[in-house]
Amino acid sequence: MKRLEGKSALITGAARGIGRGFAEAYVREGAKVAIADVNFEAAQATANEIGEAAYAIQLDVTRQVSIDAAISSVVEEVGKLDILINNAALFDAAETVDITRESYDKLYSVNVAGTLFTMQAAATQMIKQGHGGKIINMASQAGRRGESLVLVYCSTKAAVISMTQSAGLNLIKHNINVNAIAPGVVDGEHWEHVDAMFAKLENKKPGQKKAEVAAGVPAGRFATPNDLTGMAIFLASSESDYILSQTYNVDGGQWMS
Ligand SMILES: NC(=O)c1ccc[n+]([C@@H]2O[C@H](COP(=O)([O-])OP(=O)(O)OC[C@H]3O[C@@H](n4cnc5c(N)ncnc54)[C@H](O)[C@@H]3O)[C@@H](O)[C@H]2O)c1
Repeated sequence: MKRLEGKSALITGAARGIGRGFAEAYVREGAKVAIADVNFEAAQATANEIGEAAYAIQLDVTRQVSIDAAISSVVEEVGKLDILINNAALFDAAETVDITRESYDKLYSVNVAGTLFTMQAAATQMIKQGHGGKIINMASQAGRRGESLVLVYCSTKAAVISMTQSAGLNLIKHNINVNAIAPGVVDGEHWEHVDAMFAKLENKKPGQKKAEVAAGVPAGRFATPNDLTGMAIFLASSESDYILSQTYNVDGGQWMS
């Protein structure tokens, strides 16, 4: 049996990477999925490739009007919203003394405010519908502890873990389960960008940082988006109805908590 049959899901930042992997998995499980991304053309291409059960939505999670319009589009398209994955995020790396206000503002507006206000808009819609819902926030191993060159990103992901705890406690009275997934390192375009940044900051050859990081993962390799889909399906299904405010590590054994 398909575990998300008839469900309506919205996934932010789903044009590529992990979000795209989640969208493909949700469609396989019977859901109708909004591929919501600030890069609308990429979202459209991804939705076309996934097939009929996926559709593209323009969404900039830093703008409230855009969030509200995205929720309205989902309701127009499918008639309801059952599942939100707050997946869109930005990364940056710098020496502490070189962090700029611009980088801080950008990362906090997408990773923290974007997650909070998209969660709020989705929850408002779910409460109106009266049948509960599932919200999954993308945290990270980076939110579990700091990293020397990654102060801002790590702190945004710690905020995601904390917001998941509070929102989960607050929204369960509406039968809305809020939980999070904390991946370790996941292969994709995002990591090409991270590797290039570290190459500059740590004077490494291209690919060197990635190889070093992979060697430190107990499972011995980077994750693929597919390694995360089992948890994303579970947290969106009725099997997780008694679970709230948790952040699950899906990270090849990198963090234990
Ligand atoms: N890749 C990893 O190693 C890793 C590890 C831990 C956690 N994560 C988390 O998983 C999630 C997905 O990561 P990924 O590697 O697939 O990232 P990615 O950079 O490949 O994809 C992010 C997507 O978000 C979109 N986006 C950016 N700003 C947006 C905005 N303002 N509004 C809407 N969409 C926006 C981008 O266009 C892109 O399609 C993120 O929350 C990330 O922090 C990733």
